[in-house]
Amino acid sequence: MTASYEVRDGIAVVAMDNPPVNSLGLGNRRFIAASVSRAQDDPAVRAIVLTGQGRAFCGGADIREFNKPEATAAPDLVDVIRLVEGCSKPVVAAIHGVVMGGGLELAMGCHYRVVQSGTQVALPEVRIGILPGATGTQRLPRLIGLEAALNMIVTGDTVMSDVLAAMPSQKLFDRIVPDDVVSAAIELARAKAEVRPLPRSRDLKVEHPNAEAYLQFARNMIAASSRNYPAPLRCLDCVAQSVRLGFDAAVDYERAAVTELVWTPESAALRNAFFAERAASKIPDVPEDTPRRAIKSVGVIGAGTMGGGISMNFLNAGIPVKILEMKQEALDRGIATIKKNYEAQVKKGKLKPEKYEERMALLSTTLDYNDLKDADLIIEAVFEELGVKEKVFNELDRVAKAGAILASNTSTLDVDKIAAFTKRPQDVVGMHFFSPANVMKLLEVVRGKETAKDVLATVMAIAKKIKKTAVVSGVCDGFIGNRMIEQYSRQAGFLLDEGATPQQVDRAIEKFGFAMGPFRMGDLAGNDIGWAIRKRRATERADMKYSKTADKLCELGRFGQKTGAGWYDYQAGKRDAIPSQVVLDLIEKHRKDEGITPRKISDEEIVQRLVFSLVNEGAHILEDGIASKSGDIDMVYLTGYGFPIWRGGPMHYANQTGLYNVAEAMKRFAKNPRDDASFWQPAPLIQKLVAEGQSFS
Ligand code: NAI
Repeated sequence: MTASYEVRDGIAVVAMDNPPVNSLGLGNRRFIAASVSRAQDDPAVRAIVLTGQGRAFCGGADIREFNKPEATAAPDLVDVIRLVEGCSKPVVAAIHGVVMGGGLELAMGCHYRVVQSGTQVALPEVRIGILPGATGTQRLPRLIGLEAALNMIVTGDTVMSDVLAAMPSQKLFDRIVPDDVVSAAIELARAKAEVRPLPRSRDLKVEHPNAEAYLQFARNMIAASSRNYPAPLRCLDCVAQSVRLGFDAAVDYERAAVTELVWTPESAALRNAFFAERAASKIPDVPEDTPRRAIKSVGVIGAGTMGGGISMNFLNAGIPVKILEMKQEALDRGIATIKKNYEAQVKKGKLKPEKYEERMALLSTTLDYNDLKDADLIIEAVFEELGVKEKVFNELDRVAKAGAILASNTSTLDVDKIAAFTKRPQDVVGMHFFSPANVMKLLEVVRGKETAKDVLATVMAIAKKIKKTAVVSGVCDGFIGNRMIEQYSRQAGFLLDEGATPQQVDRAIEKFGFAMGPFRMGDLAGNDIGWAIRKRRATERADMKYSKTADKLCELGRFGQKTGAGWYDYQAGKRDAIPSQVVLDLIEKHRKDEGITPRKISDEEIVQRLVFSLVNEGAHILEDGIASKSGDIDMVYLTGYGFPIWRGGPMHYANQTGLYNVAEAMKRFAKNPRDDASFWQPAPLIQKLVAEGQSFS
């Protein structure tokens, strides 16, 4: 660390340096404490300016220290802030770029704060299920008022320094400057060098005309909107103490609350998601400094459901897109859909009209492959047939420039086979978007056996640019997400055979926290998709057992919302799923045909069979090397399949449940004659981890 301490004409300028955002790791905390003591003891120093090198003042706690002894080693952040605030000489924070979490708490412990315009300010701790536990919940209400502070702390939202500085009667920022914040801070330090007593945020009083009534109102709102998360209400409890208790007692309260939250399963789940998201972009054998190819323009083949959505992602990021189709009508239809989507955003006020114009200006179309010769990345989204893909990739191989990345959005086909249609398999990769592609966060990046490392590194980087969560998957049927969901769907089917109704299954798993149960999901996506897969399976994998209810449903033409009927009935133009007597009769008849006596099935059994089927298949996916870490599987489920975030993903949930308990449940399910005994043998990886007393992480 090359943090610096320098005395400029009586002012000690202390500059933190812990790239990328000067997080408050042990080294940085020791540096700040030592620098303040040094300045205090130096008679030549009249005041101190605390700043950060690089692009931030300070981004908060050092996540690299999480769960390590360094995190709690002395001095902790509260000690450092106490030292800063207790310094007998004025300490001025010079803030630019980013001031978040512990960084903001540190700044609020300083006597004065000068901020640069355009600085991002936040206390985001609630997003990992905790709260600002280093006096943040007590200082922010004193500096910007009860309501604004509560808002920031409960949402974790980032607010720009300009907005905060413009608030009437705010005391967070003494000055806001367009640039050179350090010079402005030095100037303020000089002006205030002899002013005593030193202003301390802890001494301020929280003013509010009717604090208790407001807090009660806020409590009702927060309780309603954060049902599965304990942290937001605890944030409120702490902020409330700022009007009820003295500073020190309230800080003790805050400390106890954060300690309690750290141990909640919800916080563990949110932290898992936070780390898994960061880890997903790291591929074990692809070094971080792998050179990337420049992506300045993109070609998209196919202007259908997926091609249009995929194109919008790049347009949104300011990257020009050229869409190719076979016929002009198809192009016109595709463009009209893109326009309609953007216009809806403009209407809702989510997109400025001029931005819409800008984006559409980046979009062009063609019927001629030669027009794609300059594209850096070409993504194919044509019909899901290997023969069609072959034709497209032959053409791409013919026209694409050397080094262009050729991607397929296939959801089921073998990316290695597709790569073999070209003479450059190293440049071919799967980019599996989810529908609607302009909305869904997940992108499965499918790594073929010959995909070059720099292609992977480039695709991961471009995914970030278009704001996707990219997860690498090896080549297998269904990749990570759909391979697992097939097992989940099979279980849903068996549950119907054995005695459950679609409503009961959906309700149970939705109560667990899934955004949508398997039957409502099937109706939304189209039940014909699964039907086609099962027909294919009948020839490819005759050993795979399914409930026949879904086939019988499709034979009635009940494909879901698009046909107005599926597992549920639908009224024209509405999406509400109405329980269907036709379906209940169909299931009952099916049971009779199969000689099944229905039994009562508990919600607990439904949830366990659905979730543990994901876990067992997920374990096989790890064994097969299709996913490189369990966190990747969790990210796929959190961002692409509506798994409840506060449960952390299927693999994290299994860790929390205890793999021993999970394996025992699987062995019980294996004894059920209506289920698939061979599937329910716990995966060898699970057996090994249980024997070693380990978990997936
Ligand atoms: P779609 O049927 O809506 O669109 C396909 C488009 O490709 C049509 O506009 C068609 O005219 C065009 N096309 C067909 N052959 C072509 C050719 N030789 N040259 C140029 N254009 C051609 O299909 P959708 O749903 O967009 O699917 C496209 C691909 O995305 C498939 O591989 C599918 O498996 C995959 N996918 C689909 C998802 C979905 O939810 N619909 C999700 C993830 C992947």
